[in-house]
Amino acid sequence: MFVSFFLLWLIICFFIIQFKSRRPKNFPPGPITLPLLGNLHNLSLDNPLQDFERLRLKYGNIYSLYLGSKPMVMLCGVQAIKEALVNKAVEFAGRPQDMYVNITTESKGVILADYGPRWKEHRRFALMTLRNFGLGKQSMEERILAELQHTSADLESSIGKCDNPQVMFHNASSNIICQVLFGMRFDYNDWTMKEIVRCFTENAKLANGPWAMVMLHTVPFSCCLSCKFFDHIISADQRKYIMGLLYNDPDSTFSEDLLSMYSLDLHFAGTDTTSNTLLTGFLYLMTNPDIQERCQAEIDRVLEGKDKACFEDRHNMPYVQAVIHEMQRIANTVPLSVFHNTTKDTEVMGYTIPKGTMVIPNLSSVLSEEGQWKFPRGFHPENFLNDQGEFVKPEAFMPFSAGPRMCLGEGLARMELFLITVTLLRKFKFIWPEDAGEPDYTPVYGVTLTPKPYFMKVQLREMH
Ligand code: HEM
Ligand SMILES: *[C@@H]1O[C@H](CO)[C@@H](O)[C@H](O)[C@H]1NC(C)=O
Ligand SMILES: *[C@@H]1O[C@H](CO)[C@@H](O)[C@H](O)[C@H]1NC(C)=O
Ligand SMILES: *[C@@H]1O[C@H](CO)[C@@H](O)[C@H](O)[C@H]1NC(C)=O
Ligand SMILES: *[C@@H]1O[C@H](CO)[C@@H](O)[C@H](O)[C@H]1NC(C)=O
Ligand SMILES: *[C@@H]1O[C@H](CO)[C@@H](O)[C@H](O)[C@H]1NC(C)=O
Repeated sequence: MFVSFFLLWLIICFFIIQFKSRRPKNFPPGPITLPLLGNLHNLSLDNPLQDFERLRLKYGNIYSLYLGSKPMVMLCGVQAIKEALVNKAVEFAGRPQDMYVNITTESKGVILADYGPRWKEHRRFALMTLRNFGLGKQSMEERILAELQHTSADLESSIGKCDNPQVMFHNASSNIICQVLFGMRFDYNDWTMKEIVRCFTENAKLANGPWAMVMLHTVPFSCCLSCKFFDHIISADQRKYIMGLLYNDPDSTFSEDLLSMYSLDLHFAGTDTTSNTLLTGFLYLMTNPDIQERCQAEIDRVLEGKDKACFEDRHNMPYVQAVIHEMQRIANTVPLSVFHNTTKDTEVMGYTIPKGTMVIPNLSSVLSEEGQWKFPRGFHPENFLNDQGEFVKPEAFMPFSAGPRMCLGEGLARMELFLITVTLLRKFKFIWPEDAGEPDYTPVYGVTLTPKPYFMKVQLREMH
């Protein structure tokens, strides 16, 4: 009796689940789904990325998959991604909510917040903070240059030696964000700084491996999870300063608790991304000495007689600009963007996507799309130069994604990449160590892509 009830129950469950994971009408195509598993059986354990590429070749630039009973739609290529994220902006501006661990019960900061008034307010506030610091007594530019003096000093002390630059780039980008958020930098030996760096390297490890690319968004931010962590860092004055900005707004949904969450958000979003882009960039600069020298010639010419670079100088440095954009293209730092969720029933490329479907924009597919680039493969700054040698930005350059959810740190990130690259290349020559063997460009998969650890040899350039 009991057994047959149990079997009946099992069969009912089976049908419910199968029914649930069947594709709705006119849903993007994809492989046949199995009950319970969905399409998990179509993905290999050690490298699902190859399977994704295979699926794209079979079904085209928009296809669907079921992870268990959960549908997700993959968007590849500039056409599909633009149509969704830009033309149907609001429809695609949500974030999946059940995927994420609830970090605090109330708020998800900016990045993971669903589309709505709360997200809008937080985004507006974050943009305002970033802009205000640009206008403040000491501009963002000066802060970055000041931080670079510490980086330069570090490099000078390692001249002739071979060092892994990972921590150096991480320290620098982390400190730049701290300056923006808390109006202060931390000494590299400071306890807090050590804690931040340790924490983020740990999270990076946690989130590595090809599967992490897919599951990445469920990975809790381990030790950084605790809001208390940031409570330690923000002093009473800094808190008052930031809260002061908020008190002007009577409808604010901010509370002090949210502040830590929000800081964590920006720190998380702005540190790994920038430093991994630089790590990949400098790897390619070392292994392409001709490109490095051509940058240095342009930098020397434009900065002649000046003691430091400024962001405006980029307009006179088309080649350096092209190299930095090519670094971002090849670094492919956030390959699957952050997952989106449809806020309404909608349509893309002729397919129907119901409200509440998870949507994954595959940014790597755009950054290396055939037909969009002169050289889709390899490191070629010519991708961003026209026949006259002027800097041009193709439509498919979207490492920051597109639409209303687009990276809000783009301005800061671009300023950092430019000032750091120019300042370091002006002073130092970066050399691939003779005994390091062939460079391996295969990235390590994670929330953000990062190159395999490598060593870098530094020499002082003769000042021009
Ligand atoms: C090279 C550096 C960076 C890259 C490649 C990058 C890339 C991205 C991408 C792909 C997204 C997801 C957009 C989407 O959902 O479609 C994003 C979101 C975001 N980024 Fe960045 N980012 C970088 C630097 C920064 C910096 C420096 C900050 C902070 C100051 C920052 C703050 C954010 C925030 C807050 C979001 C969430 C926006 C929202 O959900 O409304 N990012 N970024
Ligand atoms: C997915 O798995 C099913 C069942 O094993 C198989 O029939 C189908 O060919 C697979 N599809 C792809 C694209 O791998
Ligand atoms: C996606 O967005 C819809 C509409 O905003 C919301 O109701 C739903 O809960 C979200 N879906 C998930 C999986 O979070
Ligand atoms: C996450 O937080 C939201 C908003 O407070 C709540 O409605 C939801 O039930 C929580 N989900 C989980 C899994 O704890
Ligand atoms: C980076 O910061 C750590 C921790 O504060 C410090 O120990 C280390 O010397 C710094 N390294 C570099 C290269 O800046
Ligand atoms: C994204 O696109 C690239 C290039 O087409 C492909 O190699 C990769 O497997 C895709 N990733 C996913 C998760 O679809």
